[in-house]
Amino acid sequence: MPGSETLVELTDIRIKLSGLQILDGVSITVPQGKVTGLIGPNGAGKTTVFNVMSGFLKPDSGTVAFEGRALKRIRAHRLTKMGISRTLQGVGLFATLSALENVMIGGSSHVRSGLLSQSLAMPWTDIETERLRVKALAALAELGIEDQAGRLPSELPYPIQKKVALARALVSDPKVLLLDEPAGGIGAPDMAELERLIRSWVPERTILLVEHHMELVMSVCDLIWVLDAGKVIASGTPDEVRNNPAVLAAYLGEEGAA
Ligand SMILES: Nc1ncnc2c1ncn2[C@@H]1O[C@H](COP(=O)(O)OP(=O)(O)O)[C@@H](O)[C@H]1O
Ligand SMILES: [Mg+2]
Repeated sequence: MPGSETLVELTDIRIKLSGLQILDGVSITVPQGKVTGLIGPNGAGKTTVFNVMSGFLKPDSGTVAFEGRALKRIRAHRLTKMGISRTLQGVGLFATLSALENVMIGGSSHVRSGLLSQSLAMPWTDIETERLRVKALAALAELGIEDQAGRLPSELPYPIQKKVALARALVSDPKVLLLDEPAGGIGAPDMAELERLIRSWVPERTILLVEHHMELVMSVCDLIWVLDAGKVIASGTPDEVRNNPAVLAAYLGEEGAA
């Protein structure tokens, strides 16, 4: 978008899963220091885009560039080191770990090297544990839930679980934060707080937001990309996208199918 540099750029990404063309030539730019939305009906491929950007899935073709450099092989731990962090659709917390420990996992170098099982099985050194603990508590405090640090996910209301998941993504101090339906399952007061938080993260952080709550998307995003059936069907400002006939048709199709 005018006046801002592109931080992440996907070019002509194609990926088949189980024989189905899930992304069919997707090109998306994410401007630095802005909030970019990625919307579209269920099954459009939004989470798959996140999986490609965060190295969970290797595309069949196409490139992912970060700060102008195309990445040859996208590996999850390298992306974390480069400053890309994500939340999962839902919450994805470890049931047997406290809120604090779940957040510490997001900052662990063992996790960064992709060895999650080792991270859980290996004792951390005292110094690393303390360093992580301090950072994790700060991340919980940023979200106003440091008093919940010792609780297990099952003891926390869903909106608090979502905040723990957010804290886990924030603890590595990412440049780019990929948020997959952060407002899913939360009510209006928490939604207003989420909006305030997202605004507080830019321009230091760059946000890519997948979200179904259109009011949130339209109010917080600078730029929106619309996916349908694995293709970009529209992009632009919230006003441009809101009034785009192809976008309206895609969402009407979804309602018709529901
Ligand atoms: N591992 C997989 N194997 C086969 N199909 C998949 C796989 N993951 C996702 N899909 C399909 O890809 C499409 C896009 O999924 P997804 O990216 O999760 O959509 P969205 O997040 O936009 O709802 C859906 O039709 C989904 O069923
Ligand atoms: Mg999804």
